[in-house]
Amino acid sequence: MNLPNNSKETFAVTTPLYYVNDLPHIGSAYTTIAADVVTRFERLRGKSVLLITGTDEHGQKIQRTAESNGRSPQAHSDEIAAGFESLWQQLNIQYDRFIRTTAPRHEAIVQEFFQRVWDSGDIYLSQQQGWYCVSCEEFKEERELLEGHRCAIHTNKEAEWRDEQNYFFRLSRYQTQLEALYQKRPDFIQPESRRNEVLSFVSQGLQDFSISRVNVDWGFPVPVDPSHTLYVWFDALLGYVTALLEPETEPTLENALSKWWPINLHLIGKDILRFHAVYWPAMLMSAGLSLPGRVFGHGFLTKNGQKMGKSLGNTLDPVALVSRYGADAVRYYFLKEIEFGKDGDFNETRFINILNADLANDLGNLLNRTLKMVHKYCDRQIPNCLCEHIPSDHPLKAIGLSLGEQVKQAYVELAFNRACEAVLTLVRASNKLIDEQAPWTLYKQGQQQAVETVLYTVLESVRLASYLLSPIIPNISSEIYKQLGFATNFNDKTQISVAAPFTTHATWGILSDKQKLGEARPIFQRLELLETVSS
Ligand code: MSP
Repeated sequence: MNLPNNSKETFAVTTPLYYVNDLPHIGSAYTTIAADVVTRFERLRGKSVLLITGTDEHGQKIQRTAESNGRSPQAHSDEIAAGFESLWQQLNIQYDRFIRTTAPRHEAIVQEFFQRVWDSGDIYLSQQQGWYCVSCEEFKEERELLEGHRCAIHTNKEAEWRDEQNYFFRLSRYQTQLEALYQKRPDFIQPESRRNEVLSFVSQGLQDFSISRVNVDWGFPVPVDPSHTLYVWFDALLGYVTALLEPETEPTLENALSKWWPINLHLIGKDILRFHAVYWPAMLMSAGLSLPGRVFGHGFLTKNGQKMGKSLGNTLDPVALVSRYGADAVRYYFLKEIEFGKDGDFNETRFINILNADLANDLGNLLNRTLKMVHKYCDRQIPNCLCEHIPSDHPLKAIGLSLGEQVKQAYVELAFNRACEAVLTLVRASNKLIDEQAPWTLYKQGQQQAVETVLYTVLESVRLASYLLSPIIPNISSEIYKQLGFATNFNDKTQISVAAPFTTHATWGILSDKQKLGEARPIFQRLELLETVSS
């Protein structure tokens, strides 16, 4: 791609804008961690990145929750939005924009967008009849509901019958254009299973959907008819656009779209796929805007097989989890353990076992024992080994040389578990090499050169492993880099792509004897299972 001089390629990622009906749970944290990892990775590769997250504050669900707590919806939203921001700090999420849909700037964007769609002739008034799930904020087909008109996602909630005048968006007009989009850009919806879901849904024929409500006050008034408020989803999706505004600029669509549009990646859970992969592109087409790069719908975190959720009340408190185990542990577990795109059950014993095995034993002990041997056998100096003198079939070099590319591909495809597994292959091979070569014996036998080669190749492998895992475990990676004598902080977002560029640091064989090793300290304390934090 040709880019003007000095201008970096841009990469904008969004998380969903979370409902503020309750404090965040681990399901909301899951998407946000993944989004943070993707942006950190793209930043490492030298792109100019923007991570957008925020809260979706309008609609009946929020209005009712606030009422039942005896508070105004705004006061309620303020409190919960603050809870989200605070959790993101604890999880070390480096978001660039936090958009709240009650922001006055957002209303200006929504109005301008509505006007464009109105001018395209895609909005009309009609009668809406149907079953509405307030927790989903979505009309449901009768056949989608369980017995007693209960929602299939919020199984403890009954859908409510609605029969009222609403404004509608002419989704049906975009059927052919959407089908052409999915054909022309097979990567637009990922993974494949979600794409198939959407194709099948669209092939059944698209129906117009209502974009206003008459009995919900908590929302923006419909610009052409203030007796209606805008349907929460029509307003919320546009939060992605408002978020692109520079803080001081006037809230116009032109300003919002000038630098970061189109957004490269919308990360969402599978329950909100239709809104992002069908409604949203159609709305954008109607307003004459270009379309996002891709929509990735991940799976659900489940507890005993059921979606964890605020409405079902079977959640896991992310604040307790992070306070107990730390941000890196939580980030690592969910991305390593669950294939992104599939559902995954949370189990605290497994959580502890995986972290102890991968981070405390395989990676942490490896670094620690190797550094101690370097202190003992090499006078605290990184051995002077030239990478080109190490044969290319050396077990660690052989893996290390292609690992950067392999892991890059995994991150690009959002196959985080594959990225972790690939890195662990090198880590495990390093442990095996030490056990087989037994540097302590080689040392006793006076084979200094052989000792140095083992220790150099292992240290370099730990370095590469920590570099490639840094988007997931930035604190641990920074600590490893420090112990290896680098002044690199993976949390320094303004510096990182210059301090440790991917082009050099993702390559095996860059560790140099000019670096001064730091103190050897455990990088990850073994975890113990106390009583569980899950409810
Ligand atoms: N407000 C809408 C999104 C609007 S985006 C313009 C919304 N909010 S939500 O808070 O209910 O859900 C936000 C995201 O969290 C969704 O992607 C949803 O899939 C995800 N999760 C909620 N519970 C989850 C799990 N148990 N597991 C994984 N993700 C889950 O929908």
